[in-house]
Amino acid sequence: MQAWVIGNWKQNPATSQEVNALLDDLLSRVDAGERAKTQASKTQCHLMVAPSNIHLATVHTRLANSALLCAAQDVSAHSESTGAYTGDCSAQQVADAGATWTLLGHSERRQYHNESHNCLLNKLSHAFSQNLSVVFCIGETQEQYDNNQTFEIIDTQLSVIKDLLAQQPDITASLSERLIIAYEPVWAIGTGKVPTVAEVSKTHQHIKQTVAGFADMADTVTVLYGGSVNADNAESFAADTMIDGALVGGASLKADSFLAIADAFSQADTESNK
Ligand code: 13P
Repeated sequence: MQAWVIGNWKQNPATSQEVNALLDDLLSRVDAGERAKTQASKTQCHLMVAPSNIHLATVHTRLANSALLCAAQDVSAHSESTGAYTGDCSAQQVADAGATWTLLGHSERRQYHNESHNCLLNKLSHAFSQNLSVVFCIGETQEQYDNNQTFEIIDTQLSVIKDLLAQQPDITASLSERLIIAYEPVWAIGTGKVPTVAEVSKTHQHIKQTVAGFADMADTVTVLYGGSVNADNAESFAADTMIDGALVGGASLKADSFLAIADAFSQADTESNK
């Protein structure tokens, strides 16, 4: 399985100029890497960035001839297309701006926008209806982790997928290509604190088994780890066969660290052919 390394830019960078500078840096290094690619390092991971909606069309245009994909960070729960929903952006609109994927259910959306089970069920349904694939984010808080509730919380969050498949069973056949789960413990996001690789591995195994239990899937679902991933710790996560890639926040805002993380996962892929 080819790994995924995805940059969630969140509400960054501040200006179009800074977005373009980051893209200049990313594109020049990716191009140079492509040219230097040897037979031995031919396996590359999938690379994707998720900018703010305001920058989506620019990022899409600039990445059009590169190996990098473009994702939205969210879509409207209210309508997949148009409507009187001030401030919202629909799945159709982000797809039209160039996104082929969208993040959904990020803990910052759950925390600051009170995203509920039904809200996320609508968003998933809208995204799939508009042919967007989905990176669905889940994870427990520090308190839940301390109380050993990680699996319980994750099961509740994953039940949105189960309900979606009950509503739209036709999605099942292509689910493993159209859905990625990102396990992001809330307490590890932006804190520099990370769970051990063994803990992440065990949780990913649980996630894969749970999603496989919802649907008779030919392939296992891709599960990424997110939360304080950086150039120094990426290699240890990449070495574990249960960890199919990374969802990266802060370290995705610098081409150097983002591509170092991508290299760690590409290297692990080449070595283990996992
Ligand atoms: P950090 O990598 O900054 O901890 O953020 C992780 C994250 O929230 C990615 O979605």
